[in-house]
Amino acid sequence: MAVAAVSEEELREQRFFMQRVRAVTHTFDHKPLAFTHSYGCQQNVSDGEKLDGMLSEMGFELTDTPDNADLVLYNTCAVRENAENRVFGNVGALKHAKRRNPEMVIAVCGCMVQQEHIARRMKERFPYVDLIFGTHVLHRFPEMLYGIYEKGSRTVCIPECDGVLAEGLPVRRSDSVKASVPIMYGCNNFCTYCIVPKVRGRERSRGPAEVIAEVRGLIEKGYKEILLLGQNVNSYGKDKGMAFPQLLRELDGFDGEYVISFMTSHPKDCSRELIDVIAGSRHVSHHLHLPVQSGSDRILKLMNRHYDTAAYLDLVDYARSRIPDMQLTTDIIVGFPGETYEDFRMTLELIERVKYDSAFTFIYSRREGTKAAEMDDPVSDEEKGRWFRELLDVQGRIGENAYARYVGQTLRVLCEGRGRTDEKLLTGKSRQNIIVDFAGGDELLGKFADVKITKALPWALLGELINEKEK
Ligand code: 5AD
Ligand code: SF4
Repeated sequence: MAVAAVSEEELREQRFFMQRVRAVTHTFDHKPLAFTHSYGCQQNVSDGEKLDGMLSEMGFELTDTPDNADLVLYNTCAVRENAENRVFGNVGALKHAKRRNPEMVIAVCGCMVQQEHIARRMKERFPYVDLIFGTHVLHRFPEMLYGIYEKGSRTVCIPECDGVLAEGLPVRRSDSVKASVPIMYGCNNFCTYCIVPKVRGRERSRGPAEVIAEVRGLIEKGYKEILLLGQNVNSYGKDKGMAFPQLLRELDGFDGEYVISFMTSHPKDCSRELIDVIAGSRHVSHHLHLPVQSGSDRILKLMNRHYDTAAYLDLVDYARSRIPDMQLTTDIIVGFPGETYEDFRMTLELIERVKYDSAFTFIYSRREGTKAAEMDDPVSDEEKGRWFRELLDVQGRIGENAYARYVGQTLRVLCEGRGRTDEKLLTGKSRQNIIVDFAGGDELLGKFADVKITKALPWALLGELINEKEK
């Protein structure tokens, strides 16, 4: 099976279906409302913006509750079991809404239902779900929705394939300052615990010309933060004649003030060249999210990660030497099959050595169809829970003072909104992608400001606005 580009003709066909659905929603005696929610990673949220874009074209307005919606769409995640349980719970809760409003269309799509056993379970357990579709047919949502309005029959569409690339779908962006731009889809790494390669297909990069044009357009429209997305951005462009560091260099060259950030980087492909490009850039974020997963070489091998802790630490040291103000974050899995307390202690040692600014920590979740799911997993859930809490304690202590090094510095901050806890404060992000709160007026929203850091909290910085005159 090959990765297929969705042809212009197929997209035209979908635009035609969008018009036909619009003709249907036009006959409603009220404003057509859709409630949508995307679970999981930024990539999925970005897919959700495309689904929202198609819904807008089809005449729907978005609403923030499923209760009075004409259409409910859950765009799901499969990365851990609790993400899936949440979806089952939320779809289950729609039963009454559907009874009250039998015309309501309920759709579930994305990574979770790309797994056949889950799609089957969803279909059996929730007969009132009208539409179930997988990750490779997102662009055919209008056609499937039209089929439901026209024939009223249930549809399940989860073709197995290596993946598609669809350019030119409508996007309804949820923010006017920050924009996500997927640069690649899928994954070829096959980490043994991970379901992503199975549900999102093989790695495929968008053409550099398309990415560059999209980013240029966004900056011209006034977007100030561009988040480049991919399961492993460092392997971008292998088949497209432009590698990730070169792409970053191109995207760094536009006029105006903006920040380019990206996620996620696999340490095995994170090159010194990439670090050099970040260090020499004007616009690229000084934040590296570098998932280490484990501090034990034995476990890294079982995870099929293709690096060892020595190589990882070298990379971290190099990055810190070139970008001294960098924020460094990571992902860690506790309780991988066969992990012993000795292995786990090596993870603790590694985080003590690296001193991450923050770490996203997860207890291993068995995913059917992965290699790790077949491995012996003798450690009890209670024991894994104890290790997990120990990890949280150690990282909590490290993170407590991690941001203290920024106190006294002046950081350039993109102001994003009012403080969540204190309305008097503005909240924004520094170039290191750290939350900075400070007192300021609404005229700064969506703009950059210089802020002198006065205090470090474990999750944010506090500061004072520096007036133009004082600079
Ligand atoms: N169990 C627990 N955590 C997982 N992750 C991915 N798959 C699993 C799994 N099966 C974590 C990894 C990854 C992050 C996005 O989610 O740490 O980097
Ligand atoms: Fe979840 Fe992974 Fe799918 Fe993102 S790619 S939604 S993290 S399963």
